[in-house]
Amino acid sequence: MDFISVIGTRPQYIKLAAVSREFSTAGIQHGYIDTGQHYDSNLSSSFVDEFSLGSAIANLSVGSGSHASQTARILNGLDEVLQRSKERIVMIVYGDTNSTCAAALFASKNNIPLVHVESGLRSGNKRMPEELNRIIVDHVSDLLFAPTQNALGNLANENLAHRSYFSGDITYDLFCFNNNRGFYNNYTSKEKFYVFTLHRDSNTNNKERLLTIFRSISDLNCKVMLFGHPRLIKIMSEFKIDLPANVELNPPTSHRELLSFVKASEGVITDSGGLQKEAYFSKKLCTTLRTETEWVETLESGWNALVHNMELLPDIVTRDVPSTHEPIFGVGNASRIIVEHLVKEYT
Ligand code: UD1
Repeated sequence: MDFISVIGTRPQYIKLAAVSREFSTAGIQHGYIDTGQHYDSNLSSSFVDEFSLGSAIANLSVGSGSHASQTARILNGLDEVLQRSKERIVMIVYGDTNSTCAAALFASKNNIPLVHVESGLRSGNKRMPEELNRIIVDHVSDLLFAPTQNALGNLANENLAHRSYFSGDITYDLFCFNNNRGFYNNYTSKEKFYVFTLHRDSNTNNKERLLTIFRSISDLNCKVMLFGHPRLIKIMSEFKIDLPANVELNPPTSHRELLSFVKASEGVITDSGGLQKEAYFSKKLCTTLRTETEWVETLESGWNALVHNMELLPDIVTRDVPSTHEPIFGVGNASRIIVEHLVKEYT
């Protein structure tokens, strides 16, 4: 069987890096298809270079669009690329994006064994496109790898325990690998600062909400480094919103550089799923601008906090650092667990 990962967005290049390294170490052939959901080079090809991912089997170049058209174009694209090899494939998908959901639908409609990595997460908010993607993908997958015990419990609650395994989090593998080699220590700053990212449609698509967020950010008596997702930059320009004086705008940056900034920062303010975890790995306080999170364990320990009422932001951002830090994301060997399992099951 051929192992093929389907990816297409920034966080998925990072996840692919962890898993493809483990396939190489095991001497197992593995390729990937890029849906092209993200097409700006600093959200896509720059990560291919950073992680030496090599060429994709195909790039479907689907780009932006409504959720329906993005999903449909990925289904069509996979049909064209894989029509002659469907019988020999095991497909691996990651996380909760439209690329993940479309690839999972393709695999299940073609009887292709499907593996979901970063499975079992639930925010409880079905208005989030990612939550629907997670539920759909988990229920059509053959093998589910949960990054946390809580995610494993969610799968059991949905009668999926018989095909679910705890692996730990593959992005924690990457964090440990790079951190042990000192790759995240290349930034020092005399000035205190926070790392800030924002891209969820619930925060970006409403002008009032965006204005409120930036007003509260300007109340933080501290420099804020914003790494601007293209979605945010485009919408801010459409809404004619100016950045507050304490915010420094930077383009999205490499994984290593972003983590270097996180490690040197006072904390992280974000609505990203991945960055909530990376703040936790780095033992930095994270403040999440959402009403709920799928990474619930990070809230229990106090390392992460949710803020929706933006007036509370300054107080929450400057809360005390917790005294304990539990290994909720495993021990940095999630990719190995996953690859060993796949080899046993499919070769
Ligand atoms: C997607 C994922 C989200 C993930 C995020 C990481 C879905 C539903 N959402 O959100 O879960 O956390 O990626 O970044 O799959 N755009 C560009 N250039 C690009 C990509 C996007 O300008 O390379 C702009 C376009 O205006 C586009 C908008 O961003 O319409 C939204 O892009 P899309 O890929 O649909 O979702 P993300 O917000 O990036």
